Amino acid sequence: MLTAGAALPFYNEPALAQLSKIENVPPDAVMINANENPLGPCVEAAEAVHSVVSKGGRYMYAETDALQNLLAEQEGLEPSYVQVFAGSSAPLHQAVLAFTSPEKSFVTGDPGYEAGERAAKFIGSKVVRVPLTKDYAHDVKAMAVADSNAGLIYICNPNNPTGTLLERSGIESILQAATNTAVVIDEAYAELSGATVIPWIKKYPQLFVVRTFSKAAGLAALRLGAVMACTDSIALLQRAMPPFPINVAALLAADAAIRDRQTMQRYVRDVHRSRGWFEQQLKTLGVKTYPSAANFVLANFGPEGPALFQRLERKGILLRDRTREIGTGFVRITIGTQKEMERLVREIKRYR
Ligand SMILES: Cc1ncc(COP(=O)(O)O)c(C=O)c1O
Repeated sequence: MLTAGAALPFYNEPALAQLSKIENVPPDAVMINANENPLGPCVEAAEAVHSVVSKGGRYMYAETDALQNLLAEQEGLEPSYVQVFAGSSAPLHQAVLAFTSPEKSFVTGDPGYEAGERAAKFIGSKVVRVPLTKDYAHDVKAMAVADSNAGLIYICNPNNPTGTLLERSGIESILQAATNTAVVIDEAYAELSGATVIPWIKKYPQLFVVRTFSKAAGLAALRLGAVMACTDSIALLQRAMPPFPINVAALLAADAAIRDRQTMQRYVRDVHRSRGWFEQQLKTLGVKTYPSAANFVLANFGPEGPALFQRLERKGILLRDRTREIGTGFVRITIGTQKEMERLVREIKRYR
């Protein structure tokens, strides 16, 4: 019988991603379950992908450097402070491998984005979950002292699935308390929140900021993410990287998406507008929502929620039921196009 090397932990991202897979999605489905940008890549990014075939025969050193230089320039950093990855789940996994172990724990807010926690469990690292406050904010004081042997403190900001944004002072208090612990701030929704701690990277060598092109940039299927940290800290993550993890189509599409600021800004404006409209609609229906700084909203439909979500799914409207993690009737709803949100509201009204 074939067996894998005993020393290699099983932590592959595709296997984890399958946990969220939905089967038999109808072609006209309203997919507001995964916080994607329904408009996809901007025109320039799509054109870059079309033109990529001629570049397919060579390894992509030049394109990788070009994108890292562009990201560094955009954020006022040295290029050696930036490492691109295939998406942002990948570096979350690698950070877990690099900094946690059965002795060195992974500390996370609860509920929070699960990729890092799953990776930590796969490799047998200790996981310390710190409940969010009653307002669904990270409990920074509790996180800073959650484990004297913490290897990595993970903060998703804004937090997925609650949408809540932690104030910069809260993050700084953790950085000041946990000087020998990797502090990973996941800014997957930074374009929507307008908040970032990238300027602190030079001050705090233990700070890693994770970004993705899967959300506002609309490149989820192309797989491009980035980590920013000081040069020596980036080097610790690079040790765990596979040799050529990123394809040239993703690199060129991301480059084009960064340069086309207007499209991204339009998407952000549209999300803000539709999110406000949608929250108001739910309020008039008596459904509680929580303040969100991201492209999704956490709502509580109460005990009738799970049946409603199933009915909506049968109608081809996919939401992310969070009953198991948060409580009965909690659901995370991505802000899709205004038309999609109107279809959702119509269906909700039909069933309530
Ligand atoms: C907070 C957060 N981080 C990271 C990711 C992973 O995204 P990707 O691997 O596509 O960059 C997601 C996806 O939903 C997310 O919500």
